[in-house]
Amino acid sequence: MQMYDLIRKTRHREALTGEEISWLVSAFTDGRIPDYMMSAWLMAVCCQGLTEEETAALTIAMRDSGDRLDLSPVGAVTVDKHSTGGIGDKTTLVIAPLVAACGGYVPKMSGRGLGFTGGTIDKLESIPGFSTSLTVPQFLRNTREIGCCVIAQSGDLTPADKKMYALRNLTAAVDSIPLIAASIMSKKLALGADCILLDVKYGSGAFMKTPEDAAVLARLMVHIGKTAGKQCRAVITDMNTPLGDCVGNALEVEEAIAILRGRRSDRLTALCLSLAAQMLTLAGRGTEDACLKMAEDAIHSGAAAEKLRQMIAAQGGDPAVVDDPARLPQAAVQKTVTAAEDGYIASIQSEEVGLACLELGAGRTADHAEIDPAAGVRFHGTVGDHLRQGEPVFTVYGRSGALCETAAARLAAAITWTQSPVTPGILIHTVIK
Ligand code: URA
Repeated sequence: MQMYDLIRKTRHREALTGEEISWLVSAFTDGRIPDYMMSAWLMAVCCQGLTEEETAALTIAMRDSGDRLDLSPVGAVTVDKHSTGGIGDKTTLVIAPLVAACGGYVPKMSGRGLGFTGGTIDKLESIPGFSTSLTVPQFLRNTREIGCCVIAQSGDLTPADKKMYALRNLTAAVDSIPLIAASIMSKKLALGADCILLDVKYGSGAFMKTPEDAAVLARLMVHIGKTAGKQCRAVITDMNTPLGDCVGNALEVEEAIAILRGRRSDRLTALCLSLAAQMLTLAGRGTEDACLKMAEDAIHSGAAAEKLRQMIAAQGGDPAVVDDPARLPQAAVQKTVTAAEDGYIASIQSEEVGLACLELGAGRTADHAEIDPAAGVRFHGTVGDHLRQGEPVFTVYGRSGALCETAAARLAAAITWTQSPVTPGILIHTVIK
């Protein structure tokens, strides 16, 4: 087989066979296809797309390019969740212990943040002592005994995706729906959970800018999941506004703890409850209504917070943070910005908020760069809220006054105001089953 011919076929929208796709992925993974040829093929996919069958074949070939996890030692139906990424998305921190408190089993491998979106692993590592680099047997044991365990991706899972993603990143080839679908689903399938819930975001802080595009991606991923024999569904959710009040690692852990302790009842809490209910339903634990009630009860009874304590302790962290979040890393400097005049918050630009937090040190601009776990922002109001002149709008947390000043100016510019009442947009747009 010649890579030249495959590039030409995709460029002319001639579908590749399963055998051709499987050869292309394995030959690229072991270095027989040079980067320049693979980049050309990836760009042809960006411009011409792939059929559903080609995308499914690409996903399976990528899944099979490295190790696959065997979750059978957990001894129960397992359920995974994936978010396509967003600003202030701390849902995994809430959902893993919440689903476990309701009898579900959540073995979760997550990523570190790169660029303006945060990573679950960085958030968890802001908990003093918390380890995200457990061995696979420890990971499986914790999941079996506690019901949830969240670790950083390890081993040689989907090496084809790592190499392809690196090229896509360098050649403006990330935002292609079939490539995103194959990248995400190959990792989910290699991790091996029986059920997969996908949270596909749209809006200014997401890959997909409209709910319609997000639905196309979601449908494709659900199709791939089901074809591979998984229970799979997707929720399409809004990422035009940051999720919750806080963006930044330790601040987001604090916010997740507040939800699990029943101290919050806002849009983020509603989203976490809905995602947990969908995961429990996929895992066969009841109807969606019954599972939603189960999740609400787990928060009110204290079972969800207790599950978080157990998960933190089992991963070497300080479980006392659940009762005393002041034990989390604290910033040296805080700066609160107040409203210049009375008004309603009309919008908060997610991407700008992510970039301001990146500059503060809450995220990383290069692999392995150090991050500041205490840095970030806490909003005191959200879209639709009316604030009076002088009331706090947000507080910035950082290492120095200069960093906080720069971030505060960028954050202030990310907020638009209006004198008329504003109805916040819906958070959960659609569920694709
Ligand atoms: N997330 C992934 O894992 N892969 C993509 O291609 C895009 C987002």
